[in-house]
Amino acid sequence: MSIQIVVLSLSYSLTLFLAFLVLPSSWKANSAPIREAEALLKWKESLGNQSILESWVTPAPANATTQSPCRWRGITCNSAGNVIAINLAYTGLRGTIEKLDFSSFPHLLRLDLKVNQLTGKIPSSIGLLSKLQFLDLSTNSFNSQLPISLANLTQVYELDISRNNITGELYPSLFPDGTSRSKTGLISLKNFLLQDTLLSGRIPNEIGNLKHLSLLALDGSLFYGPIPPSLGNLSSLTVLQLSSLRLSGNIPVSFGTLRKLNILYLHINHLTGHVPEELGNLSSLVVLHLAVNNFSGNLPSQVCGGGKLVNFSASFNNFSGPIPKSLRNCKTLYRVRLEKNQLTGNIAQDFGVYPNLTYIDLSYNKLSGELSSNWGECRNLTLLKAAGNMIGGKIPDEISQLNQLVELDLSSNQLSGIIPSQVGKLSKLFSLSLNDNKLSGQIPAGIGRLSNLQSLDLSTNRLSGSIPYQLGDCSKLQNLRLNENRLNATIPYQIGNLVALQGLLDLSYNSLSGEIPWQFGKLTNLENLNLSHNNLSGEVPSSLSNLWSLVSVNLSDNNLEGPLPNSNFFRSAQPEAFRNNNDLCGERQGLKPCSATSTEKNGGNDKNKIVVIVVASLASILIFVMVCIWILAFLHQRSVNQSELEDIPIRENLFPIWQFNGKFMYKDILEATKNFDETCCIGVGGFGEVYKAEMADGQVFAVKKLSSHGDIEMEEVKSFKNEIAALTEISHRNIVKLYGFCSQIRHLLLVYEFMERGSLAKILSNDVGAKELDWTKRIRVIKGVAHALSYMHHDCVPQIIHRDISSKNVLLSPELEARVSDFGTARLLNPNSSNWTAVAGTYGYVAPELAYSMAVTEKCDVYSYGVLALEVLMGNHPGELISYLHSSPDHKIGLEDVLDPRPSSPVDQKLEDELSFVLNIAILCCGANPQSRPTMSRVSQQLEVGCFW
Ligand SMILES: *[C@@H]1O[C@H](CO)[C@@H](O)[C@H](O)[C@H]1NC(C)=O
Ligand SMILES: *[C@@H]1O[C@H](CO)[C@@H](O)[C@H](O)[C@H]1NC(C)=O
Ligand SMILES: *[C@@H]1O[C@H](CO)[C@@H](O)[C@H](O)[C@H]1NC(C)=O
Ligand SMILES: *[C@@H]1O[C@H](CO)[C@@H](O)[C@H](O)[C@H]1NC(C)=O
Ligand SMILES: *[C@@H]1O[C@H](CO)[C@@H](O)[C@H](O)[C@H]1NC(C)=O
Repeated sequence: MSIQIVVLSLSYSLTLFLAFLVLPSSWKANSAPIREAEALLKWKESLGNQSILESWVTPAPANATTQSPCRWRGITCNSAGNVIAINLAYTGLRGTIEKLDFSSFPHLLRLDLKVNQLTGKIPSSIGLLSKLQFLDLSTNSFNSQLPISLANLTQVYELDISRNNITGELYPSLFPDGTSRSKTGLISLKNFLLQDTLLSGRIPNEIGNLKHLSLLALDGSLFYGPIPPSLGNLSSLTVLQLSSLRLSGNIPVSFGTLRKLNILYLHINHLTGHVPEELGNLSSLVVLHLAVNNFSGNLPSQVCGGGKLVNFSASFNNFSGPIPKSLRNCKTLYRVRLEKNQLTGNIAQDFGVYPNLTYIDLSYNKLSGELSSNWGECRNLTLLKAAGNMIGGKIPDEISQLNQLVELDLSSNQLSGIIPSQVGKLSKLFSLSLNDNKLSGQIPAGIGRLSNLQSLDLSTNRLSGSIPYQLGDCSKLQNLRLNENRLNATIPYQIGNLVALQGLLDLSYNSLSGEIPWQFGKLTNLENLNLSHNNLSGEVPSSLSNLWSLVSVNLSDNNLEGPLPNSNFFRSAQPEAFRNNNDLCGERQGLKPCSATSTEKNGGNDKNKIVVIVVASLASILIFVMVCIWILAFLHQRSVNQSELEDIPIRENLFPIWQFNGKFMYKDILEATKNFDETCCIGVGGFGEVYKAEMADGQVFAVKKLSSHGDIEMEEVKSFKNEIAALTEISHRNIVKLYGFCSQIRHLLLVYEFMERGSLAKILSNDVGAKELDWTKRIRVIKGVAHALSYMHHDCVPQIIHRDISSKNVLLSPELEARVSDFGTARLLNPNSSNWTAVAGTYGYVAPELAYSMAVTEKCDVYSYGVLALEVLMGNHPGELISYLHSSPDHKIGLEDVLDPRPSSPVDQKLEDELSFVLNIAILCCGANPQSRPTMSRVSQQLEVGCFW
């Protein structure tokens, strides 16, 4: 019993004792949260009204439990109720942290404010967070200098203050790791010009006190001065990012002791001197970027000493001496950039076999020797560049095993021998540059199999023989340079099939003979054409007047004769472009006017004769057919008159392009639309009415009844038969499917895929729809329309111009993806209009040049597209904004000026950058000058890639 009492009293006193222990501390814990809550609320107050901080509310005095900030958004507490983490990353927070009283958070372990819009100073009181382990203020707009007090944060293991206000790289083309490509070229440049708003100053030497640091990222701001040698004391560092700053001086030798370092970014700075050989001691190194500095001397010979190096760049420096020895057996290499140095060595001996290598650029060094067949073993290579060296010998056949290769540039070397005949196996090749070597022999015909090739440069070699006609199969080719070779024979007419050619077609300084193929008239995107210094004869084909995009032409030093093509460009071109020819004539200075005799001479031309014969016989067949049609029509008309009840004319049978269940569908359409009853009408436009046709078997179509003022002449319909037939062939994700059409006495019926969601105009006009069409979906719509237009402009032969892009003609799929409708139909309604017309398009979307009756080119569509894209961003037609843009082109328009307020505003930076990018493109497309507008293929490409320059 006494034992029991003793135990009881013991436990009692223990409880009391414990209570004493706990009480004061819980009392303390209660007061700390109050202080923390107050500090947070005070900060909130300084930030103004931001919905992100909605949950941060003043506690009601009566309700003690709500006094704790622990449930507020972004706040984490420990069990005692102390704030240990503030995490407001990616919340769109604006304002400063100057009013945040750091002294109130003695327990804080994590402070994560990355990717926001915070500005102002990083207050020096941040040094009071003595327990802090993690600090991330990256991707904000903090400016001024780093407070020295950061050195007090001795527990911090991750310190990231990178990318404060630089949203992109300063050198967009130099992205050594291949990932940090600027998404917003225009915007980053602007920010670059606003330098004084960036974090700057020297990197404080005191950072060397942060002994536990594992990650230190200060890249992408404006720090200058030397790299503090004290960083060599941070022996736990695994990641050190000091790129894109203005650091000068040498790399401290002390870096050689950072044994755990995996990643070292020093690229894009002003660093000088030798790179310490001690970097070879960093046996854990995986990524080393030294590119774009002023380093000199040798590269550390043991740079891959640890055998782990994956990504290595040293390009754009003054490195000299040999290729580091350790690279030869560095099997881990994935990406290597050494271009633009003065490295010496034998390319055959200094490099080995790298199974993982995808990218290697050795251009513009002093490498010699020959290309070894080993390169054929680097099967994952997508890019191989070694231009501007002294590499001799042959191109090894094994190169053609690199079936992932996208870019091959061996230009400006001493290569001889032939181009490997198997080069056509490189089916992913996008750019092939072998120019400025001593290559001989013929151009292999297999080059025609390179269906992805966009740029081919074989100029300035010793290539002979004829141009292989298969080259005409490289349908994506945009630049073709074969100049300064020994090519002879005639130019294959298939080159005229290269309708994607855009930049330059240069065949000059060869021995090409015969005529310029008239098919060159199809190269309507071509900007520069150079055929000078050949032995071309005959007339310049009049079809060249179709080359709308020409900026320069050179036909000099040939044997050409006769009149020049009749177009503005040729009328105003410089006479030098035509000098030293046989007998060119034309109405311009420097050339003699064409006399009647010279036109007669044309007739003597054999090819022209054939053309005339063909045309004449075609014409007579056409007349015969037309007479037949007329007779048929006449008979048919009579039959209609005879039986008034029979209201279905057979005339429709003339163009049965689309069969439905084996029988022609006019009757079915009449049934399905209840004889074109109003109740089935789902839209009325300038073109006529659109009806919803629900077929007996459940299929639904949209039928567009094109009303015409007066009868549509059958001849006219006939002349568009082929065009419509071509439209029915098209199947593209972003184009409304046209199933067919039928003609009837008074109207044409076009039968389309039915789009339940209706038009973009409709969805933008109501608030529910506008909300549903959020920013991601809107960007997708803008991209979709670009893809559709690019396809019609550049992938269709002949090219199809829409002429009436507007938000009414962009329909939406159930997933709210864009489907452009009515391609080519503007022309149907205005059949007399050839390319020369002022009547096309919807008011408000029509390119300004049409007011002066210039040609309808694809650039008119580009303009309408720009208006449309602005409309999608703004939620309604941009109206006056465009004339404002035209009148003050220098004025910058920001996202905040235009964005439709209805969808919830974009929260993350990436989306916002993308929207800015789209806005910039839209503005470019709306340019007053058609030539300044980009082509749709470029727009569509760049929207995908996300970078315009
Ligand atoms: C590195 O740390 C040691 C000892 O902690 C110190 O004496 C030395 O000055 C530091 N080095 C630098 C470069 O700051
Ligand atoms: C570091 O590298 C230098 C130069 O390469 C070498 O002399 C030294 O022995 C290395 N130090 C260690 C500890 O490995
Ligand atoms: C090429 O890359 C793929 C994946 O990127 C990888 O699986 C493959 O092993 C690589 N090929 C070689 C030969 O290493
Ligand atoms: C051919 O003309 C183009 C465009 O004017 C020019 O850029 C190119 O250098 C010329 N080619 C040669 C070999 O001069
Ligand atoms: C140029 O072509 C003509 C025939 O059109 C031919 O007589 C002449 O020899 C050729 N000249 C050269 C240099 O090939």
